[in-house]
Amino acid sequence: MGSNIAVIGTGYVGLTTGACFSHLGHNVVCADIDPDKVERLSRGEIPILEAGLEEIVREGLQSGRLRFVLGAEHAVADAEFAYLCVPTPQSADGSADLSYIEAAARQIAPHLAPESIVVNKSTVPVGSTRFVEHALGRSDVYVVSNPEFLREGSAVNDFFHPDRVVIGSDDQSAAIRVASLYIGVPAPLMVTDPASAETIKYASNAFLATKLSYVNAVAALCEAVGADVNDVVLGMGYDKRIGHEFLRPGPGWGGSCFPKDSRALVYIAREAGYSFDLLDGVIAVNEEQFERTARKILDMAGTPTPTVAAWGLTFKANTDDRRDSPAVEVIRRLVRAGARVRAYDPTVRGELPEAPEVEVCDDAYAASEGADVVAVLTEWDEFKWLDLDKVADAMAAARVVDCRNLLDRGALLRRGFSYQGIGRN
Ligand code: UDX
Repeated sequence: MGSNIAVIGTGYVGLTTGACFSHLGHNVVCADIDPDKVERLSRGEIPILEAGLEEIVREGLQSGRLRFVLGAEHAVADAEFAYLCVPTPQSADGSADLSYIEAAARQIAPHLAPESIVVNKSTVPVGSTRFVEHALGRSDVYVVSNPEFLREGSAVNDFFHPDRVVIGSDDQSAAIRVASLYIGVPAPLMVTDPASAETIKYASNAFLATKLSYVNAVAALCEAVGADVNDVVLGMGYDKRIGHEFLRPGPGWGGSCFPKDSRALVYIAREAGYSFDLLDGVIAVNEEQFERTARKILDMAGTPTPTVAAWGLTFKANTDDRRDSPAVEVIRRLVRAGARVRAYDPTVRGELPEAPEVEVCDDAYAASEGADVVAVLTEWDEFKWLDLDKVADAMAAARVVDCRNLLDRGALLRRGFSYQGIGRN
């Protein structure tokens, strides 16, 4: 028999977590503060692009194991577990803003059943388990950390096939109860103290960001010495200690987690008396990468005020998320330098609120119309299959900067394009 789970917050993490738990056989009530969103979710309409999510939400609604309600207090009355999946945005000083967590905890506190477990799923600073305990003010309720490691675009698959499940609790019985929710999920499961669980999340994301800044730095080196970064990372990856994953160079890394979490970890370390200079460097290399990428595109364009066709706006492919998108970071720099930008992304129509100067086009060909250079900024698969002759015909001059090393360089050169990739010429 499944457990009764309340999920507070139906963003990327909450919605995926709730829907996936219902698929595992639990009874899940998801709460949000947005009435419109609750109504649409109750009809099975998913506000985000996430592979496989719509199917399992609909399945949950049909079976009755998944419900959406307005207001956290209405979700927790029968819950044995209350998952906090609310945002932890970045404050001005780089620290994580815990006001949503605090508000949610205070809201549910009077309605929680005795012996229930509040689970922190949001990425929260080390020490937040205690913070939530304090905000709840309930000595008969447990607070456990259970960080998420879901990647956007493959979050459903990641939930059912995680590399690990981490549970942070000082209470063995509470940890075992949370662990039991994952029966049916084949993954190593580790139980540790709350501070270690919280640190695992931050340290993992910061390590992955480090890997990416490192590979982008290696790409810059490859350009300087005439090496090809694709071959370099292939050769590096055969070393099992390095591995092939997460070594694709690009225009910089972004998204809802890495920039926020790496800055938060620098802040957490500083507060605790450790100066995390390495991570400061990782962040600085990323800023530099946005800058280098923009400069490369402008240099390739060959005129002082070029028209740039930007292919891709999301922070990576297979998501509609543009939070801290490297594509947008690069575009902002192009606009500041005086470029006119025509952009296309399969998930964007109409205006681009974060860069209103950008003209959003309906397809990659339209974006390329009159352009001095095409910049491939997001690795959408569809860009690989475009008719290159048609692209060249549309452009003022056939030039490409492939910031994701996505396109077929040979095919471009054969059609007379001037070409630059990242870390290869
Ligand atoms: C990330 C973590 O992977 C996930 O475990 C965590 O819980 C949330 O943050 P996500 O933000 O969905 O997930 O994005 P991810 O796929 O990790 O990519 C982050 C950024 O790195 C993107 O901008 C992406 O384009 C870039 N990236 C990723 C590269 O440039 N090269 C790579 O090889 C991989």
